Amino acid sequence: MRNSLLIILLTLLVLSACQNREESKTNSTSEKPAVNELSENALKVRDYLKKDLVIAHRGSTYWTPEETEPAFRWARNIGADYLELDVQLTKDSILVAFHDKDVSRTTNAKDIFPNRISSGINDFTLKELRSLDAGSWFNETFPERARDSYKHLKILTLQDVIMIAEGYRIKSENGEPIKEFINEEWTGNYIYEKDPFDNGNRPGVYAETKNPKPGVEKILARKLKAMGWAINDNPKVIETYTGKVDIANTNGRFILQSFSLESIEKLEHHLPGVPKCLLLWRPNMEDNLKQKYIDAINFGVENNVHGIGPSISGGPNNYGELTADWMADLVHSSGMHIHAYTFDTNEQLEEYKDRVEGVFTNRADLALTFYNRKSDKTAEEILNDLGY
Ligand code: G3P
Ligand code: CA
Repeated sequence: MRNSLLIILLTLLVLSACQNREESKTNSTSEKPAVNELSENALKVRDYLKKDLVIAHRGSTYWTPEETEPAFRWARNIGADYLELDVQLTKDSILVAFHDKDVSRTTNAKDIFPNRISSGINDFTLKELRSLDAGSWFNETFPERARDSYKHLKILTLQDVIMIAEGYRIKSENGEPIKEFINEEWTGNYIYEKDPFDNGNRPGVYAETKNPKPGVEKILARKLKAMGWAINDNPKVIETYTGKVDIANTNGRFILQSFSLESIEKLEHHLPGVPKCLLLWRPNMEDNLKQKYIDAINFGVENNVHGIGPSISGGPNNYGELTADWMADLVHSSGMHIHAYTFDTNEQLEEYKDRVEGVFTNRADLALTFYNRKSDKTAEEILNDLGY
C-alpha cells in the first residue's frame, strides 16, 4: 500500500513538472519581446561610436560661458571626445550654437535690442546676433569663475564650432574678431586661423536640433556636406596625432541628437548612416513611464537611431530619473548605446558608470579623470594657456 501511494505521488510530481515546463515554454515563445532590435546596418553605424565617451555639454557651462569660443576651445584642449552644441536657425537661415529659445538669459540683448528681449533666436539675423555680448552674463552669474576675457564673446555658428574641432580659432585684432567680407559686404562670418594653442586633439561634434524650425535638418545636412563632415558624402581627411583625441577623422565624427521625434525622422531622411541619438525628457513620459520608454526605444529602432539620451537624477539639475537599471536594460537589449545627461559630479559618474556608454558633462575635466584619461593640465591651466 505504502509503495502504491509513493508511485502515485511520484507520477503526480512528474506530471506537474511537465506541465510547468510546457507553461514556461508557452510564455517564452508567445511573449512579445519588450523592445525591438536594431537592424544589422544600424548596428554597423552604432559601432562607429566608442565607449566611455566624454561629451562636452555646450563646451562647458561650468568653466566658461556656454557654447562660446572659450567653451569649445577648452573642451577640445582638455581632451573631450565630442563638442556638444545646440543648433538653431537664425532669421537668415544660418545655424548657430545656442541653447535657449530667446536671447534674454545669456546675452546683453536688453541693452542692444530692448524692445526685442523676448524675441526668439530665430527672429534675429546672424549679424544682429553677432552684435550681442554672450559672455558678460557668466561673469555676473558666476563671479567665482569670472574672467575679464569672457566679456564681449560672440554667439558662434555651427561652422565656427567645427573649425574649432579641426584645430582653428577665430582670428582677432585688438580683441575684435576679424570679419569676412565678400564684395565689400560682411558675410556675418569671421576669419579663422590655425589655433596657436591647439594641442592636437581632434574631437567629434555632437549637435542637437533644438526647438527645430522647418528646414533645419536639410540646412544642417547641406552644411555638413560642404564642410566634409558628412561621412557618407565625400568626407574630408582630418589630420590626427598619436596619443590625441582622433574622433574628427572617424565615421563617428558627427552625431545628431534631438528630443523631437519629427526632427529625428527628418535627420534620418537627410543624413542616413550618420549616428543619431534620441533624447528623452521625463515630464513627457510621466503618465505611463514604462510603456512610453519602450515606445521611445522602438521609435528609435524604426528610425535607425543608435543611442538614447536619457536624463539622470541628482544636482545641480535635479532632472527626473531616466537611467534606472531597468531602463538601461531595455535600451541595451535593443542594441542602442546610452549617452545620458548631465554629469556634474564624481558621485554621478560613479553611480551610472555601468549603465552608460557616454556622458554629457559640464565637467569634462572630472569625467576624463574618472575614465583614467586625465589631462596633463588642470581646467584652469588650459583656460590660462588659451589666453583667457
Ligand atoms: O543634448 C543633451 C543635453 O544637452 C540635453 O539637454 O537642455 O542641455 O540641451 P539640454
Ligand atoms: Ca543639448
